[in-house]
Amino acid sequence: MPHPVKVTGVGSYAPAKVLTNTDLEKMMDTSDEWITTRTGIRERHITAADEATSDMALAAARQALAMGGVRAEDVGYIVVGTVTPDMPFPSAACLVQDHLGAKNAGAMDVGAGCTGFLYAFQTGVALVASGMHDKVLVIGADTLSRILDWTDRSTAVLLGDGAGAVVLERARKDEPHVMSTYTGSDGSLWELLHMPAGGSRLRASAETVEKGLHSFKMRGNSTFRQAVEIMGEACQKALDDAGLSLSDIDFVIPHQANLRIINALASRLDIPDDKLVITVDRYGNTSAAACPMALSDVVKEGRVKRGDTILMVSFGAGLTWGATVFGWYPPA
Ligand code: ACO
Repeated sequence: MPHPVKVTGVGSYAPAKVLTNTDLEKMMDTSDEWITTRTGIRERHITAADEATSDMALAAARQALAMGGVRAEDVGYIVVGTVTPDMPFPSAACLVQDHLGAKNAGAMDVGAGCTGFLYAFQTGVALVASGMHDKVLVIGADTLSRILDWTDRSTAVLLGDGAGAVVLERARKDEPHVMSTYTGSDGSLWELLHMPAGGSRLRASAETVEKGLHSFKMRGNSTFRQAVEIMGEACQKALDDAGLSLSDIDFVIPHQANLRIINALASRLDIPDDKLVITVDRYGNTSAAACPMALSDVVKEGRVKRGDTILMVSFGAGLTWGATVFGWYPPA
């Protein structure tokens, strides 16, 4: 990279309302036992009626900027990974830009399902590495509760709402920095995870609403199989590009979709428990927010220390996937 890029701040937001598996038992034909053993999820956070994606993104962004010691007016670009912006347009990023007072920033959303954060991160890294901007805010935020079919137990129990953000800045060569970012896609698998209506293919109508076409559709078993293989390959690619092996990594932050997927990945790559970050039990799958929320939690817990090397990996709708290796380097 022409200019090294460091990650200097992180923040996260989870809505106040917690929905437990026991709460779900009262809403549909499911059980805490089924959800816990099949997914590892115990509870998830759900937005209030007056909360939307940009509100959560804003809260996470403010924390990340404060930690990095970066003023909103010094941010050159805001990239938000999301598939649930407040409205189809303008972007959630523009709403965040306005509320932050980031008056010198360009702003856009990136849609890559649960991989949205890693796609946004790669974009942000490119903007700083190229010399185009010194400071970029990267956010992953999703409000999947708004596009769930709450009568479909096969998807409703899996997902939750939240946001996570990081600050990227130009680094000196001797500072811990981003060592690789990798993304991939296979659009032939688009049907595994999609929302059929509301776009230009099927405009919103009384019929699309009646047929339930404005909600999250998933082929769970095929997605599961793809996820383990794809995330394993993405980790290896990001490590190779960084010239590192797993023994050089302090923490692995995988996408938090299902504990069984995470454990399968861990056994495939031989990731020891003390390096593996797991938050799916308390948030469910928060889509693009999952990876940065997990980073924020381990930083707040004091598990991740300044200078540690992180491997982050995700997969999601598209299909898309991605992984990155970076040094965590907030101001001292
Ligand atoms: N409660 C009780 N029973 C249920 C529930 C539920 N919530 N959901 C499904 N079941 C039943 C099914 O009806 C089925 O019953 P049957 O055998 O009588 O037909 C049985 O449980 C088994 O269902 P499976 O789908 O085979 O269960 P499986 O063990 O495969 O787990 C799961 C399903 C959890 C969805 C799993 O396949 C998975 O995690 N897939 C990946 C999901 C994922 O990663 N999504 C990513 C989203 S990415 C993005 O971009 C947002």
